[in-house]
Amino acid sequence: MSLPDKGRSTSELLAEIARLRRDDLPVRGGKVTAYVYDTGRPEVHEAAARAYFEMLEVNTLDPTAFPSVVEMEKQVVGAVADLLGGGSGIFTSGGTESIMLAVKAARDSRPTTGRPRMAVPVTAHPAFHKAAHYLGVVVDAVEVDPVTFRASVAGVEAAVTDDTVLVVASAPSYPQGVIDPVAEIAALAAARGVPCHVDACVGGWLLPWLREAGADVPPFDLSVPGVTSLSCDLHKFGYAPKGASVVLFADPALRRRAYFASASWPGYTVINATVQSSKSAGPLGGAWATFQALGREGYLELGRNTLAAARALREGVAKIPGLRVLGDADSALVAFGSDEVDVFVLSDEARRRGWFLQPQLSYAGIPANIHVTVTGVTLRGVEAMLEVIAESAEAARERGPARLPEGLVELIADLDLDALDDAAFGELAASVGVDLGGSGQPEMAVVNAVLDALPADRREAILIRFLSVIYS
Ligand SMILES: Cc1ncc(COP(=O)(O)O)c(C=O)c1O
Repeated sequence: MSLPDKGRSTSELLAEIARLRRDDLPVRGGKVTAYVYDTGRPEVHEAAARAYFEMLEVNTLDPTAFPSVVEMEKQVVGAVADLLGGGSGIFTSGGTESIMLAVKAARDSRPTTGRPRMAVPVTAHPAFHKAAHYLGVVVDAVEVDPVTFRASVAGVEAAVTDDTVLVVASAPSYPQGVIDPVAEIAALAAARGVPCHVDACVGGWLLPWLREAGADVPPFDLSVPGVTSLSCDLHKFGYAPKGASVVLFADPALRRRAYFASASWPGYTVINATVQSSKSAGPLGGAWATFQALGREGYLELGRNTLAAARALREGVAKIPGLRVLGDADSALVAFGSDEVDVFVLSDEARRRGWFLQPQLSYAGIPANIHVTVTGVTLRGVEAMLEVIAESAEAARERGPARLPEGLVELIADLDLDALDDAAFGELAASVGVDLGGSGQPEMAVVNAVLDALPADRREAILIRFLSVIYS
């Protein structure tokens, strides 16, 4: 982009944004089954957008300068604590930041002789690996049951050492949408004197409504003995605009371990509850307004619709020849795999038909599969979604699995990435038919098949290079 010599009109800019967004996936309507959360009630999103805009220029950096921030945050965090077993909390920018703060608080509350460690089920979100990477904590991976995909309690027990500062359970984990045995994991953590974090980024503002709507949801929140912190994203099933999550701590002393203050410079005193310092109060305003616009009744109705849609989807997928639902998801996340059709081709076929179904790579013995996050809007289109899945499965069967050029996986596995600059990497990808500069509806089956054939560390190196190339 070049900076224009003269300023441009707002209408011109909005027209340009519309043009830039032409190839984006739609954020409303339920045809995109990951990343976005639609209530199906435009007036709710409108209220959030206006409140976001109203708070846009308020800086949360100094709560004494902008007391509205303190009041709004207390109300939002208070509502989350009321629903999820109490505690004191922090409003953050998302699940990753909530998890980062929970890991920091745990690490700083438990001095260790060796490097601090945490026990993390393989199905837990990579935000824990990111937090570990940033905060110098070692991850001890815990296996999950190969049929239920729930974390193994014995595995957690075996992973706990004298240097363990945190034990993790998910409610639910993202890949198959199942809830780990929170009560058992928290009890064993407590018996060893180790903090236990429940990642309810997805489920915190969903499971209570599903329970009220009739689902069988086991206890998972701060009321469970031994649970010391919990993350709950409002920009997921809270339906707030992005940039909204809450991390709760059972003990205010643990919350203080998440805070950071610095007076070691000659400027203004720095006191931060979050990783970011200066930041807009827009997301807080958006979350606050979404809560107010929906209320208990609104969330319960969305919960009922979500439960009905998730059940219809699971039952419908199970009837499609060649497909099988993975696990017995007790949430609104549905994963399905196949021994007969290539799920990556199936996902491309759905994309051609205007639907985004998220592919998931195989990992730790769990086969490659498709993930669908069911939201409040899904119910009205669930039959259409099932038709598209059935048609796409049939088309994938006819097309057969993604064909990889001979020797490609071996070539990539052995590639010395440091010897390639971004341009050369882009050319290499193009030579095997993958256009990294392309937009629109990319055929991803080949890319996914290559990644799927590589070990995780190699996948990561390739993904980092991919990001570097698309931003070059
Ligand atoms: C279970 C779980 N935890 C944490 C996160 C991270 O959330 P965010 O993308 O808001 O940082 C996600 C995101 O999908 C998630 O599913």
